[in-house]
Amino acid sequence: MTEAELYSVYKDVYVPTHLHPPECLKYYEDFTFRPDDILIVTFPKSGTTWMQEVVPLILSEGDLTPVLTVPNWDRVPWLEEHRAISSIWSRDLLHVSFATHFHHSMMNESYFKMKPRVLYVLRDPKDVFTSSYYYYGMASYLVNPGTQDEFMEKFLDGKIMFGSWFDHVKSWINAEEKESILYIFYEEMIDDLKGSVEKIAKFLGKSLSPDVTEKIADHCVFKNMKQNKMSNFSLVPEEYMDQKKSEFLRKGIAGDWKNLFTKAQEQRFNAVYKEKMKDVMFKFMWD
Ligand code: A3P
Repeated sequence: MTEAELYSVYKDVYVPTHLHPPECLKYYEDFTFRPDDILIVTFPKSGTTWMQEVVPLILSEGDLTPVLTVPNWDRVPWLEEHRAISSIWSRDLLHVSFATHFHHSMMNESYFKMKPRVLYVLRDPKDVFTSSYYYYGMASYLVNPGTQDEFMEKFLDGKIMFGSWFDHVKSWINAEEKESILYIFYEEMIDDLKGSVEKIAKFLGKSLSPDVTEKIADHCVFKNMKQNKMSNFSLVPEEYMDQKKSEFLRKGIAGDWKNLFTKAQEQRFNAVYKEKMKDVMFKFMWD
C-alpha cells in the first residue's frame, strides 16, 4: 500500500492513519499538560520503548509491578494515540508520563504554557534508519520500505512517518525551554545504563539507592526487557506487527548500520547529514 493509502498529513508530516486517526490528533490539540508531567520525546526508533520501561521504574522506585502488569502503551501513553484519551482517568492515580513523536513545532499551546519535563532521546540517525528499515518491513500500518536505496531517499527527504529526522532533532535541540529538557543519547544508555538511570532519576527529582538503580538497570538491559510481554509487543496481533519478519526489540545495539549500509549508501547518507546539519552546534555522541 502507498503513502496516500496509509498515511495522513498532520502539520506537514506523515502520520500513520491507523495509529493516529483524526479524533486522536484532535484530542491532543486540546490536551492540558501539567507542569509535573513527564514527556518522553523521540523520533521513531530512537529508544522510546526503552524509556517507557525506565521512567515508570524510576517513578515506582524499582517496584517492577507497573512494567510487569501494564502494557507500555497504557503505562506511558502516546499523546497522539487512543490510549492518552483513555488514560485520563488515571492522571490523579499515577504519576503520569506520556510519549510523543511530535516535532517541537507541533507541540500544543498548553505545552508552551505549562512546560512539562521532557526527556528527549537521540540516536545515531544511521541506526534510526536501520531500525526503521526493519520496522517498516514488519508493520502493516506502514508503507513497505522497498529497497534500502529507496527507503534511504525517503528517510533523508523526510517522506516517512513523522517526517524528517533532521528537522525533528533540530526542532528539539533549539527549544528555548532548555531548563525543562534532558537530552539523552541512546548510545549513552547502551554504554552505561546505570549511569543513565541515575541521570534521569536526578532530572525527575528522584533519589534512588544504589541497589534500586542497579535493579532498574538490570531489568532494562536489552536481553531482560525483551522477555517482558508488557513491553515486547507480543500482545499486538500479527496482522499489525509480524514479528516473525523482524522483532520489535530487534537487536538493541549501537552501530548496527555498519551491517546494513553499502559504502555508497554510507557516503550518500554522510553527504546529506553534513549539508543538513552544517549550522548545528550541538555535540552529538556519534560525530
Ligand atoms: P533496533 O531495531 O536497532 O534493535 P522505539 O522504541 O523508539 O521504536 O525504538 C526501537 C529501538 O530501540 C529498537 O532498535 C529496539 O530494539 C531498541 N530498544 C528497545 N529496548 C531496548 C533496550 N532495553 N536496550 C537497547 N535497545 C532497546
